[in-house]
Amino acid sequence: ILSPSLLKLYNVSDSIVVIIDVFRATSTIATALFNGADKVIPVSSVEDCVTIGRNLNAITAGERDGKIIEGLQHGNSPAEYPRSFIENKTLVLTTTNGTKLLHMALDNGASEVITGSFPNISAVCDHLISLKKNVILGCSAWKDKFNMEDTLFAGAVISRIKEHFTVHCDSSMMAEDMYRLHKNDIYSFIRKTTHWHRLAAYGLESDLEYCVTEDVANVLPMYKNSALVRS
Ligand code: MLT
Repeated sequence: ILSPSLLKLYNVSDSIVVIIDVFRATSTIATALFNGADKVIPVSSVEDCVTIGRNLNAITAGERDGKIIEGLQHGNSPAEYPRSFIENKTLVLTTTNGTKLLHMALDNGASEVITGSFPNISAVCDHLISLKKNVILGCSAWKDKFNMEDTLFAGAVISRIKEHFTVHCDSSMMAEDMYRLHKNDIYSFIRKTTHWHRLAAYGLESDLEYCVTEDVANVLPMYKNSALVRS
């Protein structure tokens, strides 16, 4: 498992990298694609989001510190992307941590990048098991600081796939222990996270509960030709 500040310690070029941002970027990406979006273009800056959105006649969306950014059309809530709105459209998305880590991984040589979250956990695990390559679980965290929700998801993935892999990594074993300890009480556990408090203050509790619900948007977002598409 890595977090943004540890990225340089890992060889991302010979691995499949799973970008994880449970609250909420990778949950929103899975939801938009599940509901029929053509593609999601993850970008690291607001300027790129506006320019690409204008050039492609696409929807611009994103957040900083959990809030919708002035100048963009939509935010980073999965609830904003039902099929009736997003089907056959392109979403250009920039977020505080999730899209940032994805670009950091690409800049460091990652060539196989997918995104994972509880809403698409089965699609992610099935893919990792079928590939049998080195796996790096990239936790987007919060501004380089550890967060519990991404680690919890990494632990959930490890608990599902570990019998197919050799797990020589203390952080992976720690994440799995954490998941095992809390898996029967996830809705209470997430209320302890700092991002829960941050987003609940904006009235977004329902987003947070959705984001820890398994397989409600069970697609595999894969990065190809500068965009995330259903694989
Ligand atoms: C992020 O990328 O940091 C998040 O997805 C923040 C959020 O919108 O909750």
